Amino acid sequence: MTGKFITFEGPEGGGKSTHIKLLADFLRSKGKEVLVTREPGGTRLAELIRSLVREELEDPPVTQSEVLLFLAARAQVVSNVIRPALEKGVWVLCDRFSDSTFAYQGYGRGVEVDLLRRLNDFATQGLVPDMTVLLDVPPEVSRSRLLARQADTNSTADRIEQAGEDFHRRLREGFLAMAKDEPQRFTVVDSSKELEDVSKNIEEAVLKLL
Ligand SMILES: Nc1ncnc2c1ncn2[C@@H]1O[C@H](COP(=O)(O)OP(=O)(O)O)[C@@H](O)[C@H]1O
Ligand SMILES: [Mg+2]
Repeated sequence: MTGKFITFEGPEGGGKSTHIKLLADFLRSKGKEVLVTREPGGTRLAELIRSLVREELEDPPVTQSEVLLFLAARAQVVSNVIRPALEKGVWVLCDRFSDSTFAYQGYGRGVEVDLLRRLNDFATQGLVPDMTVLLDVPPEVSRSRLLARQADTNSTADRIEQAGEDFHRRLREGFLAMAKDEPQRFTVVDSSKELEDVSKNIEEAVLKLL
């Protein structure tokens, strides 16, 4: 028996990290073995790529490099972490996955989404999540939560988080368009609601996979 693969998507500040933790606890309480990972990251090489893409460089990655760096990190975590876990029956929860590439580099930066899908299929060897939770919030909400979180953790916005209002609007529209195209895979949750309501909605959706 194989485990289920659940990905969390949406803007920074949308609640992905918060709800992944809550869902992991919920699934463990149901007796499931759970692995939580994130993108880019989850293996040594992929974490190094993560720090590379977050670095303040004189020559920040051009769009093509950005795509390929994210895909290299994904290929690594899929081969070495996610697939082996699923094969052992472990449930894998991943903070961002392929849909972030389509939303950020496709809808956000204007790379042809069909090309991104082909490159992504190569990187993932065709692995598609069993369920994708889209934490949808208006940009004002994610922005104010992000600012609060940065004040809490003394951190600053990275290169992608600093992108303009128009970029964030395209991103949100992209995520919602993909969810509409694949309603059987996506669960769209209104993450501007109270935390408990949001997590209840996620648990109800996930119960159908159990
Ligand atoms: N439904 C919610 N109501 C209020 N605050 C929330 C809610 N969901 C998340 N937050 C807060 O918003 C901030 C960003 O959430 P986080 O889980 O870090 O988002 P992400 O991982 O998507 O960037 C955190 O400080 C978190 O506590
Ligand atoms: Mg997070």
